[in-house]
Amino acid sequence: MAQVVLREVVKTYGNLYAVNHVSLTVEDGEFVALVGPSGCGKTTTLNLVAGLMPISGGDIYIGDTLVNDLDPKDRDIAMVFQNYALYPNKTVFQNLAFPLKMRKLAKPDIERKVMEAAKVLDIVHLLKRLPRELSGGQQQRVALGRALVRDPKVFLMDEPLSNLDAKLRVQMRSELKRFQRDLSATVIYVTHDQLEAVTMADKMAVMSGGVLQQYDSPAQVFDNPVNTFVASFVGSPAMSLVPLTAVTRGTDMSLQSPEGWNLSLSPANARKALSASSDKIVLGARHSTVRLHKQASPGAVPGKVYTVEPTGDITFVQVYLGAAVVVVSLEPSVAISPDEPVWIEFDQNKMHLFDGETTMALKAA
Ligand SMILES: Nc1ncnc2c1ncn2[C@@H]1O[C@H](COP(=O)(O)OP(=O)(O)O)[C@@H](O)[C@H]1O
Ligand SMILES: [Mg+2]
Repeated sequence: MAQVVLREVVKTYGNLYAVNHVSLTVEDGEFVALVGPSGCGKTTTLNLVAGLMPISGGDIYIGDTLVNDLDPKDRDIAMVFQNYALYPNKTVFQNLAFPLKMRKLAKPDIERKVMEAAKVLDIVHLLKRLPRELSGGQQQRVALGRALVRDPKVFLMDEPLSNLDAKLRVQMRSELKRFQRDLSATVIYVTHDQLEAVTMADKMAVMSGGVLQQYDSPAQVFDNPVNTFVASFVGSPAMSLVPLTAVTRGTDMSLQSPEGWNLSLSPANARKALSASSDKIVLGARHSTVRLHKQASPGAVPGKVYTVEPTGDITFVQVYLGAAVVVVSLEPSVAISPDEPVWIEFDQNKMHLFDGETTMALKAA
């Protein structure tokens, strides 16, 4: 397997920067997820690594080789797509053997490699079947197998689980991760599903509008999102974001809402707020860090319940704080109904503060 390096990679379509100066390094044996909303440039980035389209600027290395001008077949990569693109009239064995036949391997070598891949993916018993005689999950495994037999330097996968039903997707997620780990494979995996990225990837590259927003471990991205886009994209339910105004009285700093309530900031948070480019601050809070009170409580700010969503073991409550919505999680046993007045308490140690102008996370100056 090999490392992959993107250096200031650009792809334009006319005036549109589909990929805008993206730089990142995928270490040898690492599973990296390219994640972001539809149209953010994930597939284009992957296709540039694959060599399926010419690059407009920058450099791509696979291993030590600069591949900018190499044909896809000379890049030593294997791709797995959302539609499995299996040959319908070939058996599973023939589907797996095909890329090896194309490379003119000797018959015994082909048989050995196909058997190895089939064992890894647990599809030995399916080798004589045709694709139409397989379930979606089995077809996806064959598509993986076809990538695997090629023994590539890098696996490139574009939403490979999107066509599977929810339950199978969760199962294949674990299997794919296991397979990657067992082989120490270098994988670049495109998905719009942040949960898939969080659960499978060693690192996630969060993209928006062709620009790489953050490239880090899922835990880092979740705990320290660099801006409000990443904060609201990663995590479900999304982090609540409340636009407020910083107000200083003497040595105290607080955040004021348009409705007039004030939230005093701890000294550490006040230092962060001071580093903002204006008095506009966005308060961010994950549901698990917010407390809901049924009576006025010191430090808590007033709101009104909007919706109550029981999910079984947790109930999510959306609370309106003025025009902003804050999501709180509660024990299902708590009785609560829409339109009830409530008070919301934020945890000073776990809240996030963002610059209201630049959207960037604030750090203590
Ligand atoms: N062949 C093309 N011609 C023009 N624009 C394209 C082409 N392919 C993709 N785009 C545009 O580039 C952007 C990124 O697309 P894509 O990489 O497919 O996004 P994603 O995979 O993240 O959904 C989108 O705005 C898309 O409309
Ligand atoms: Mg895509």
